[in-house]
Amino acid sequence: MTQPTYSLVNNATGEKTDLPVVSGTLGPVGLDVGKVYDKLDTFTYDPGFSSTCSCKSAITYIDGDAGILLYRGYPVDQLARHSTFIEVCYLVLYGELPTKVQLEKFDSDIRKHTMINESLKGFFQGFNYDAHPMAMLTGVVGSMSAFYHDTTNNKDPRHRDIFAHRMIAKIPTIAAAAYKKYFGQPFMYPQNHLDYCSNLLHMMFSVPAEPYHVDPIAAKALDVLFILHADHEQNASTSTVRLAGSTGCNPYAAIAAGIAALWGPAHGGANEAVLRMLDQIGDVKNVPNFMAKVKDKNSGVRLMGFGHRVYKNFDPRATIIREQCHKVLKHLGKDNDPQMELALKLEEIALSDDYFKERKLYPNVDFYSGIIYKALGIPVNMFTPMFAIARTVGWCAHWIEMTADPQNRIGRPRQVYVGAPQRNYADIAKRKG
Ligand code: ACO
Repeated sequence: MTQPTYSLVNNATGEKTDLPVVSGTLGPVGLDVGKVYDKLDTFTYDPGFSSTCSCKSAITYIDGDAGILLYRGYPVDQLARHSTFIEVCYLVLYGELPTKVQLEKFDSDIRKHTMINESLKGFFQGFNYDAHPMAMLTGVVGSMSAFYHDTTNNKDPRHRDIFAHRMIAKIPTIAAAAYKKYFGQPFMYPQNHLDYCSNLLHMMFSVPAEPYHVDPIAAKALDVLFILHADHEQNASTSTVRLAGSTGCNPYAAIAAGIAALWGPAHGGANEAVLRMLDQIGDVKNVPNFMAKVKDKNSGVRLMGFGHRVYKNFDPRATIIREQCHKVLKHLGKDNDPQMELALKLEEIALSDDYFKERKLYPNVDFYSGIIYKALGIPVNMFTPMFAIARTVGWCAHWIEMTADPQNRIGRPRQVYVGAPQRNYADIAKRKG
């Protein structure tokens, strides 16, 4: 099939400029507007980047209308049912499912990098006990750029690999330390005989004074959640990692920038916001009032955990999480949890309400993840760090893909200037007002 061609026509002069088409394996083609400014002295304008591709990528594919999410071609629901987070990390980083030998080697490499430098632990002392864990995560991951000079040559593929292994292995240790800081409990060293999520639970919930038994169902639930959060193509935090990384900066600093972007309530901070919203609503009987506020544009209130820039049908991750949510609550004997009841009521009303139907607003991944985290005993301010742990592999894979690309250029968007036209400096004595 021949590709359609596109032209920009200047209606005043009739002049036509052909736009080359960039094709991928799935999804819409892209119009290459890179030369529009050179040829037409005109910018393209797309705040929020709804129609703009910033790169070519072979990692993740989303079809928002059909509710499809693929990592390296594999549907996320198949991975969530049959794979493990560590196997998915390998897939996302290297593009193929590993053989048994490759998986054992990768798993062992990650387990061997879980400890953090003892000096890095000292950074936590600089924070107040009540610092938000995302603030600590941003700061401490950023400070990792002060370590590992001998293995941070961005041009060396082996160094890029070591960076990704370090990041994936150490981010749970750093997040668990941020959690322990709040309670004033000693940081727990990782136990490398434990799998990834069991180790995280151990570092968060064990104390030196008592034995701790990791609940395998809790660890499995976390593993599934992490698979669902592992990557999501060019979302705000990943685009931030790419933009920062495009300058050739230290990769740990680029990941810290991504963590900062993830923290916002419109992005990874939404899981925390959902629980705060459920607390605020309090009871099923208050739902109609709350919904009225959500629909009132002047209230500034949004139904957190609903809506997505890309998914306009359903978020495939939300379907799986909903199932997990029921499983975990049942296992923990919390299936009559009032917050779950409240969440289900909100979902039911929203899905049948014209306001949400017309705007194609469906529950997103964060609507249920917070309820699972809460059931596992994870406090609300640790929800977004959990997301950050899972998304680290996606950030690393995108940074590697971009850095390894010889055509990578610094990301440098333009703007439509709306400020004052050029004017002359006025002496202070001559200024009015
Ligand atoms: N509650 C109520 N109304 C909403 C919501 C919501 N959660 N989301 C969107 N809308 C409305 C908007 O008011 C707008 O209405 P209008 O057309 O009458 O003006 C319309 O739906 C389109 O909304 P936009 O803000 O233009 O959609 P956008 O794609 O820019 O935003 C976003 C997507 C940020 C996710 C938004 O839906 C939202 O704020 N959701 C709540 C926060 C949330 O759950 N974020 C997590 C996203 S998933 C993730 O990052 C992992």
